Formats: sequence, C-alpha cells, structure tokens
Amino acid sequence: MSIKFMTAGEAASFIKDGDVIGFSGFTPAGACKAIPKAIADKAVAEHNAGKPFKVGVITGASTGDSLDGSLARAEAISFRTPYQSNNDLRKLINAGKANFFDSHLSVVAQNIRYGFLGKIDWAVMEACDVNENGEIVLTSAVGISPSICRTADKILIELNRRHPKELRGMHDIYEPADPPYRKEIPIYRPSDRIGCAVIQVDPKKIVGVVETDLPDEVGGFKELDPVTEKIGENVSNFLASELKAGRIPKSFLPIQSGVGNIANAVLYSLGENKEIPAFEMYTEVIQDAVINLMQKGRITFSSGCSLTVSPSLLQEIYQELNFFHSRIILRPQEISNSPEVARRIGIISINTAIEADLFGNINSTQVLGTKMMNGIGGSGDFTRNAYISIFTTPSVAKDGKISSIVPMVSHVDHSEHSVQILITEQGVADLRSKSPKEKMELIINNCVHPEYKDMLREYVKIGGETHTPQTLSACFGMHTTFEKTGDMRNTNWKNYMV
Ligand code: COA
Repeated sequence: MSIKFMTAGEAASFIKDGDVIGFSGFTPAGACKAIPKAIADKAVAEHNAGKPFKVGVITGASTGDSLDGSLARAEAISFRTPYQSNNDLRKLINAGKANFFDSHLSVVAQNIRYGFLGKIDWAVMEACDVNENGEIVLTSAVGISPSICRTADKILIELNRRHPKELRGMHDIYEPADPPYRKEIPIYRPSDRIGCAVIQVDPKKIVGVVETDLPDEVGGFKELDPVTEKIGENVSNFLASELKAGRIPKSFLPIQSGVGNIANAVLYSLGENKEIPAFEMYTEVIQDAVINLMQKGRITFSSGCSLTVSPSLLQEIYQELNFFHSRIILRPQEISNSPEVARRIGIISINTAIEADLFGNINSTQVLGTKMMNGIGGSGDFTRNAYISIFTTPSVAKDGKISSIVPMVSHVDHSEHSVQILITEQGVADLRSKSPKEKMELIINNCVHPEYKDMLREYVKIGGETHTPQTLSACFGMHTTFEKTGDMRNTNWKNYMV
C-alpha cells in the first residue's frame, strides 16, 4: 500500500454529519490541529447552507484550541468526552449546547473497546512517522490512540514534522486484554517497559495523510505567587515529615501530580526541598516543572501519558533526545492512570480541588455545583488508589469572595473515604483515621482562611451533637449567599434555619 497524501480540507471532506471521531492527544500535546480546523470550516459551510453538521468527539483528555476551540466555535460538537479545558467549549457545554460527559481517564479506552461509547467512525491521529506497513509513531502524547486506531473503521493521519521521527522508542504501547481474559499489568517500577514503540494498524484502514508543521498549543503557566508557593512548601514539608516519621520508605515513592498552575508550583517546591531525595514520577501529565527538575537531577524518571510542556521546552527536549529517551516513557492513559499499578507501586497523589468541605469531600469539577470547569481527569484514578492521597487548594478564590472550604461540597468527585490530606496555603489537615468531627476541627483550624473560620465554627454548632454535624437547610448557605450577593462573606446562618 502506498501512503496517500492529501490536504486537511480533503481529509475533512470524508467526515459526515453524525460521525464519531476519536482523536489522538492528551491535553494539547499530541492533539491534531489541521484536520479538526478543516472539519470546523466544513461545519460552518454546511450550517451556512442550512444543513446540520455535528460530530461526536472523543479524545484522551483536553486538546488544543484548533480542535476543541474551532469545533466549539463552529457549534459542530454533538457530544464530547472525557475532559476539556477550552474556554469556548466550556461556554458551549455550560449553555447546554454540547453534551459533555465527564469520565475517569483510565476507563475511556476500555469503554470504547467494550462498545459503551458506540461505533467509532474515524481515528484521527497526529504522528511523527507512519509507514506502508501501518506502523504509526505518535508524537507528544499517547492517550487513547491505540484503542481508537483498533476500533475505528478508518484512520486519517496528521504527519507533523515539528516532532522528530527519533521520538520512536519513547512510547510504550500496550493494550490489556479485555475481561474475562485480562491479566495483571506487569509494571512494578515507573521505568518498566511492557509494550512496543508503535501502533500497528491494518494499512488498508489509513485513508490519507496530511503533512503539517505545527507546534503543540500548550499555554504557559502563571508565575508562582505567594499563595501557590506556600501551598507547595506545605506539601513538601508534609512529605518530608512523613519520610522522617518512617511512614514513607527512605527511597521515597513515585509522585503523581495533577494539572494546572498549583500542581506546577507544588512540583517546584518538592524539587527544592533538600530533605526529599531525588524521586520518580508515575503520573499522567508531564508538565514543565518535571522536565526542569529532571535537568537538575531532582527527578530521575517520569512515566506519563503526555509531554505537556511549553513549545520552547519541547524543542529543548527534542534537542537532547538521548538524555530524555532514558528518562521518560509515554504510555496509553489506561496504563499511566491504571488503578492497579498506582496501588501496587504506591504512588503519592497530589491533585487540586475547586472546593473541599469540612469533612474531606472534594469537588474538582463543577463551580457552584452547576458549571463544568474541566473534568475529573485522572484525579479519581489516582486518589482512590494512592499510598497517600493529597488535595491542595488556595483557601479562597475570587479575591476572598469565595471560600474554597464550605460546609458541604456542591458536587462530589472524591469522597471523604479517598481523601487523606488537605493542604491550603494556611496549613495541612491530616485526615487519616479521623472521625468527621475530628476532620472538621483540623480543617477549620489548619486550612480555612482566617476570614471564614468563625463563620464555619458557627455553622458546625448549628449541627449539634451528631456523627456528622451537617444542617441540611444551611449546608449550601455560603453558595446561595454568593449567588445572591456575590460574596460568601455575607452569609448569615439565621437566614438558613428552618
Ligand atoms: N469557586 C469558583 N471558582 C474557583 C474556585 C471556587 N471554589 N476555586 C478555583 N476557582 C477558579 C479560580 O478562580 C480560577 O479562575 P480563573 O481562571 O478565572 O482565574 C480557576 O478556577 C482555576 O484555578 P487556579 O487556582 O488557577 O488552579 P489550577 O489552574 O491549578 O486549576 C483545577 C485547578 C481544579 C481547575 C484543575 O486542577 C482541574 O481541572 N482539576 C481536575 C482534574 C484533575 O485533577 N486532573 C489531574 C489528574 S492527573
């Protein structure tokens, strides 16, 4: 079979209204750029001609603006899963114009194979190499690509020259067998390799290849500020004290770190803490901080699903590929986020909450319980199975008008049973082996912002003597006061007593 090169427009012309597309990528890393933009252009043209045109979009996680942004602005998405972080798509979802279902990232590929997501018409892959035997070498992420390639009817490829062919060997492509034939995933250390370097497909499924030279659309991180810096310091001091107490082995344990500005700040602080030995990562997203700390020898190895680093740092990695080949493995997300592996190797999970409640329940996804921010991502895969699970959050949001710690979370992603440590810039609440009342005391004393401490102390008094001092008529009082007045500090519990 010879490879058929075509333009992005020609590739998009194959896509029909109602098709379901599985795209490569995990975060903007490895996400397609030219073909989704061309599909969005086609959608606009069809809409202008009075015809319907929407596609189902499945990816590893979030993507870049060329994919989620373009398709959202063209109102061309019928459903989207499992995660997103694009402003325009977020608006569409929260306006009820695109169905979004949030999912643990470790289960997406198996759910596709089980048939839970219906038929996949197209796999659209970004690759740094493809050959006539049907070997596809991915770029800066793996995500769900192996399973999409296998289950989709047809494949389109963006061959992106920005990523060198020498990336071959950084990926570890492995798909577990499905029940009842599944065996253990044989990973015992973050650096264990269990699969192969390429995705092997039937070459007859490859309909066309579009050549591109486009950078990953990874945004930068906010500069560290006193709050994120203090959160990072609190996390690293806590882990150093666990090490001293002998509750973490002397050689330390692999770290999983979440996404976003706070996660990046936490990693820098871990890297700087001299009491913590150089460590390995078994994580989902490899962010800038991981690479910087690897260059300094503070991180010795990282297993992940994507290299979500700023474009200039990615080029640095590509110039030093020999160094990074022996220190990084990119895996499918069902392996990078595997609950089985996380539990076996004893990861320390560090993720960020939107809000936490006085009893340790965590909301990672929905602002005021109704508006989707990004999604649960891999936070549930790791938290539930971690050796130690940590959640961080600034104690307040929106200049203090919102307390990130509330009586009851307005949406639950991680229940109190999975959450062991809560950390804000104010301090650390170690919730292990604590009753609800003990948790509440610790969280108010150590984590709540001073402006909200009295308010929350008053709240728990209303509950009286019971196992969990919640008051159902008042537990969302801070949220509803914010909705009415724009500031949780105006909360008056008397208004919520029945
Ligand atoms: N109410 C309303 N808004 C809130 C809020 C709250 N309680 N807490 C935070 N926010 C807002 C912030 O004000 C900020 O808004 P802005 O973008 O308008 O400035 C936004 O949420 C992001 O917060 P920020 O403090 O910059 O944190 P972040 O970049 O570290 O992101 C999460 C935090 C929770 C959104 C992000 O970590 C996430 O999506 N997590 C879920 C998925 C996950 O954990 N993945 C990792 C698994 S490996």
